[in-house]
Amino acid sequence: MFQSKIAGIGHYVPETVVTNDELSNFMDTSDEWIQERTGIKERRFGSRFKETTTTMGAAAAKIAIKKAGITAQEVDFIIFATLSGDYYFPGCGVLVQRELGITEQEVGALDIRNQCSGFLYGISVADQFIKTGMYKNILLIGAEMHSMGLDLTTRGRDVSVIFGDGAGAVILQPTQEEGKGILTTKLHSNGMYAEKLALLNPGSHGGYHLNKMGIEQDLGYSDAKYGDVFVSQKMLDDGHLYPNMEGKFVFKMAVKKFPEVIMEALATAKLTPADIDVLVPHQANLRISQFIQKILKLRDDQVVNNIQKYGNTTAASVPIALSEAVESGQVKSGDLVCLAAFGSGFTWGSALIRW
Ligand code: ACO
Repeated sequence: MFQSKIAGIGHYVPETVVTNDELSNFMDTSDEWIQERTGIKERRFGSRFKETTTTMGAAAAKIAIKKAGITAQEVDFIIFATLSGDYYFPGCGVLVQRELGITEQEVGALDIRNQCSGFLYGISVADQFIKTGMYKNILLIGAEMHSMGLDLTTRGRDVSVIFGDGAGAVILQPTQEEGKGILTTKLHSNGMYAEKLALLNPGSHGGYHLNKMGIEQDLGYSDAKYGDVFVSQKMLDDGHLYPNMEGKFVFKMAVKKFPEVIMEALATAKLTPADIDVLVPHQANLRISQFIQKILKLRDDQVVNNIQKYGNTTAASVPIALSEAVESGQVKSGDLVCLAAFGSGFTWGSALIRW
């Protein structure tokens, strides 16, 4: 069996910086509220005239491919994690294949819909494919264009101030270097809380899960039978086409599950928190990252935080943060790097990598 390693990494964020003060032009919020509760100072919003989740993913992928010293044509499998795909379907995996100009190879493309933990799920899947010798150059992308689907009014302020756009990508390859690469990955989920952080519509649920979970949401199609139950004018009018989140509930689960899943990975690798050199947590809220840091007794310089600049970029957050940490020299050869994420589903996961 081979071990897998990250052979190349890159990230891309759109040019346009949107500050907290700018958001307060659209909604009743303030720089003080956003910074105090989340740590976020600004985020990037993509340009709808020239960017999509796929194009940002492709931009990050090109850097990762170059850093790995391969050509796009050598990529033998694609994994794309996002919750803000260009289309409802097909997913961004095939679109990025086209964007990179490698359709001729007809390699497989897999889309992952695990929101904030999407990149962790992707790394775990890629690791298994590499270990068994099935693929040699897997392109894994996490990318989001949240700005196209946020309720930028006071009604949506609890969710919309958090999210930003961006993309990160890695190339995973086999390595026979003893002790190097991905040591272990851990994945979990609990569907009991699926609606606590979700974009419920449009969807094929027809109100079924909502009724079952006692969620009152008049979707405006109580008499409809087929066809017109997917999306309705009432959904638009009432803001039911935007994400909803029970922030406090999510927060409480996150601070419990992050340390749990990190400790689980450490136990498998027969390591302890004191062995971690760099922690790259999903950038959901600076307070969540600080809480994990305290539990694991890590110094400030051991935890990568860039939520201040980019907000929460969901599936892109871990690879963007990791890419910046590699670029700045915060992650060095031989370091034990711990990645962890928690989010909608709920789904969560961790990975330990000897860099
Ligand atoms: N600006 C100003 N006031 C606001 C804003 C805003 N943007 N948003 C909410 N408020 C108000 C609320 O209306 C409320 O007012 P009230 O007391 O008069 O009712 C007050 O501020 C407090 O609101 P809370 O929601 O209780 O604030 P909280 O301290 O919980 O912070 C936050 C909210 C930042 C969302 C936090 O709960 C959080 O970070 N949760 C976890 C998010 C997370 O980890 N998500 C997972 C990843 S995302 C994914 O998977 C897609």
